[in-house]
Amino acid sequence: MSSNNKIYRSIVSGVGASLPKEIVTNKDLSMRMDTSEEWIEERTGIKERRIASEGETTSSLGTEAAQIAINNSGLKNSDIDLIVLATATPDNTFPASATLIQSSLGIEKGYAYDMQAVCSGFVFAVEAADNAIKAGNIKNALVIGSETFSRILDWDDRSTCVLFGDGAGAMVLSASSDDTNRGVLSNHLHSDGRYKDLLYVDGGPSISNQVGFLRMDGKGVFKHAVHNLSSAIIEAIDYNDLTIDDIDWFVPHQANIRILEAVSKKVGLSKDKVIITLDKHANTSAASIPLALYEAIENDKIKKGDLVLLEAMGGGFSWGSTLIRW
Ligand code: UT7
Repeated sequence: MSSNNKIYRSIVSGVGASLPKEIVTNKDLSMRMDTSEEWIEERTGIKERRIASEGETTSSLGTEAAQIAINNSGLKNSDIDLIVLATATPDNTFPASATLIQSSLGIEKGYAYDMQAVCSGFVFAVEAADNAIKAGNIKNALVIGSETFSRILDWDDRSTCVLFGDGAGAMVLSASSDDTNRGVLSNHLHSDGRYKDLLYVDGGPSISNQVGFLRMDGKGVFKHAVHNLSSAIIEAIDYNDLTIDDIDWFVPHQANIRILEAVSKKVGLSKDKVIITLDKHANTSAASIPLALYEAIENDKIKKGDLVLLEAMGGGFSWGSTLIRW
């Protein structure tokens, strides 16, 4: 593709999502541990979450979401030549769960790998796929965010276990050289490893023989999240020579409604433009943005030509944005 000197852009050609069947409400949790429906909803905006049952895995949920995205794109599975799976909860340490999804989809060519940037994973994965398309290396990329955080939660720690849920979302990006201005307009990514102690998993293959549990200093993360997400939005609109009012839809990582309200207030973003799904899904880490995107499309919110800003912040810390003309 690169030999003909064409300039390629990455157009979103399909989106899909998949959720575990089991719904766990705040009331359910309040019957199992020392918490209340009111505390969870007031502090976070979460009302319920999906929890993976035995047999529902990061790769099985990711495969279902991916198949819906490919079907919606009008492509065949065999048209996909790159799969980037954003996840912090792979089925196994290796092989990459992306290759399990590749095989489940019956794809035998191209390449597939996992991207680990925790809650920011989806925007990191979009950037990687977009770069491969712009370089002319590939034509159709499947970008997936899939997580089973319920498996790394300490269910005796009420300050973290009520916050997360499981799920998957996927997006097909396709190379286009038409003369419209649609497609991925910018990606801005950041990491700062000084804050690793505020959000981490206390296990892993190189330091222990346990997978470990998620540990978080919620207040510390909250403060950095508001600052980093606000600056990521400003960075994206400045880079693209836009104002905040030019953005049609803001699709953020879904961690806490109070973070989203604080960020919206700080950058002057209208609440009506923010896609919120955390009430139903809780924090699904790398899956939260594509799950929210899918719902916004299904509800006829996002339309062709709209300017859509994705942004996320999570463990590492890692954070960033992607701006797309839909
Ligand atoms: O996606 C990755 C990024 N993650 C995030 O963005 C998460 C960011 N942080 C947050 O969303 C919030 O900080 C939390 C929701 C985690 C916590 O909200 P908070 O307003 O910062 O509460 P807190 O941690 O200060 O806890 C307040 C009180 C404490 O009691 P005392 O010490 O005031 O008596 C906690 O023990 O709430 C208590 N508490 C609970 N009470 C009932 C903590 N968890 C619970 C619970 N149910 N589940």
